[in-house]
Formats: sequence, C-alpha cells, structure tokens
Amino acid sequence: MAGDLTYMVTAAPGLEDIVVSEIMSKFPQAWIRAQMRGRVLLVTDDPWESLLQLGCIDNLYLHLGWLKVGPHKADLPDLTSEIASLAFPEFPLLTRPNGKTMAIVNASRSGRHTFSRFDAAAAALEGLTLGRGYVPGTKDAHDLHFRLDILGQDALFSLKLTDAAFRFRGQRSFSRAALRPSVAHALVWLSDPREDDVFLDPFCGSGTIPIERAAYPAVSITGGDISPAAVQTATQNAPEQVEIRLLDACDLKEIPSGSITSIVTNLPWGKQIAKDEDLDALYCRFLAEAKRVLAASGRAILLTDRHEELAEACRMAQMQCRALYTISLHGMLPAVYSVTHGN
Ligand SMILES: C[S@@+](CC[C@H](N)C(=O)[O-])C[C@H]1O[C@@H](n2cnc3c(N)ncnc32)[C@H](O)[C@@H]1O
Repeated sequence: MAGDLTYMVTAAPGLEDIVVSEIMSKFPQAWIRAQMRGRVLLVTDDPWESLLQLGCIDNLYLHLGWLKVGPHKADLPDLTSEIASLAFPEFPLLTRPNGKTMAIVNASRSGRHTFSRFDAAAAALEGLTLGRGYVPGTKDAHDLHFRLDILGQDALFSLKLTDAAFRFRGQRSFSRAALRPSVAHALVWLSDPREDDVFLDPFCGSGTIPIERAAYPAVSITGGDISPAAVQTATQNAPEQVEIRLLDACDLKEIPSGSITSIVTNLPWGKQIAKDEDLDALYCRFLAEAKRVLAASGRAILLTDRHEELAEACRMAQMQCRALYTISLHGMLPAVYSVTHGN
C-alpha cells in the first residue's frame, strides 16, 4: 500500500513471539515481514510515533534495506557502494532542509568475516557520505543514528528512531536486579491483562512489573517486596494507581484467599541470590501462598532460571507449571512459566 514503511523492532532474544502478538493486537493492519533472533520486521502505514506504544520492544528502527556483505575486508568497498546507491524511503527525519546532517553508524556482526564490526560501520558511514552527503558525527553529537546488523552474508540496514529514554522509560531508578521494562512488559502481556484483574507482583524490587502493568486497566495493581529499600524505590517510581507494600511473598496474610486473578513476578534467581539463600524453601513457601491467594481461574506468570526448584515447588503445592519461553538475558537463560491451579 502507498505509505507503507518497513520497521524493525528489537527485543530480548526469546521474546519475538510475544512482540509479534503485541504488534498484531495493537496494529491489526500491520503485517509481519520477518522474525529473527531479537528482531521483528513489520510493515505498516501507521505513523511511526504510534509504534512507540509497543511496550515489549527495546528499540524501533526504520528499515532501509537488506544488503549483501562478502566475507572479506576487501569486500567492504562493495558495501560502501551499495549504501551510497540505496534508495531511501520518504521519511521526515531523513530529509533535513538546511545545513549538514551528522550521521553515525553502529554495526553488529555474526558469522565468519575477516573484518571487524568497526570496519563495517566505517564502510557504511562512507557510503552515507558519498550517497547522501552526510558528515560523520560522534556518539554525543549526531542527527541520525544508523544500524547495520550483519548476519553472515546478509545485512540489515536501518535508522534508529528511539533513544535510551524510550528503552528505560525516562528517568526511573532501577534496583540492581531490575528487569528491563520491555521484558517486564512482555511478562505482563503474556498474562493477558484484563480490566477486572486484581494484580500482584510479590517480589517487585524497584517496581518494574507493576509499573508496566499500569499501562492497562485493572481493578487494582499491587507490588510488594520484603526489602524496605526496594519498597522505597518502587514507591518513588510507581504511578498513583500502583500500590507498593512491604510484604513477605511467603507469608501474604494480609491478602485474602482466592482474591488475586493475576500474579506476574520475577522470582529471585541468577546472580542476585546470596550464597546461603535457600531457594528451594523460598519457592515452596511462595508457591503455597500463591496457591492460596490465586482465584480458581487465576494464573501466575513467573520468570526464573531455577527450573528444578520451581518444578518441585509447584509439585509440592499441587499447581500446574508450564514453561512458555526461554529468554536470553545478561548471558543467562531464564524461562517464563505459567502456573495455574490446573483443575
Ligand atoms: C529478582 S528481584 C525483582 C526485581 C524486580 N522485578 C525489578 O525489576 O526491580 C527479586 C526481589 O525479591 C525480593 N525478595 C526476596 N525474598 C522476598 C520475600 N520473601 N518476599 C518478598 N520479596 C522478596 C528481593 O528484595 C528483590 O527485590
């Protein structure tokens, strides 16, 4: 269709299906052109700013083209020529009326090549200089930020449309073990948020998950943590419809039985665990409380890399546990689980 543009969105590897589900739900006219590790290409004539309502993505790019890249450093002049002759789409940011445009290129590379990603970025920037008259900018001073993703003999070339403020939701402060907001949003999206939800994140840390949950209506949204410091940070971060409480996830006595429709939480796991912390006991006690507070049709979406501990805790609590997705996060591979009463 006239006006259609191709965009690339990025997300934590493993979350691509969830990103596609969010795109299809929020932009029903868009179509998915490709899905790769950590990236989805979509085509739409929706204004690009409207795509910023996608919560599961880290960044948004305007896709400019698929290029061919040879394996050797001697092949890089071909990349320069390809970019110099690339026909750019009509896009407001690309057509600056006055003065010189400063551009930078970041490159990533997977596959076997005899050049580095820095060599490739320099070749691409030269192409932009020759073809478009752009001048090289710096990390701190540039008008346009391009990205070159080299995947073997192919490369994706794109223009970055989002900055760090988008990825980290402005100036919010994060605890050491905080999830990226996009990952928290993906967990929330998987929980299938409904306006009659009574929502709880009982290990909320700096509040990333309940804050992302606040993007959708609910009866109530509560985050809790056993650490007073975490509660203080989460309280500062959270919008007013989110209630943050000091609570022990293993002893939720203030929460009535069967009153919660949706739990989404990032359990303690990975490097955040103290050496002497007994995760088996923590998971068992939490799962017993989750079973008590969850409504009969309720569901918990849990993130952890402690697969065996979680499976055992669910077995003890007689809850059904299903692994949904494995995510690549900070060099670790936690999985997302759906836990239900399963009766
Ligand atoms: C993985 S972090 C959660 C990080 C959070 N998702 C964020 O983005 O900031 C786990 C949190 O569980 C909390 N915690 C540990 N044991 C707890 C317990 N028994 N009850 C409630 N919170 C607990 C820790 O204080 C920590 O903040």
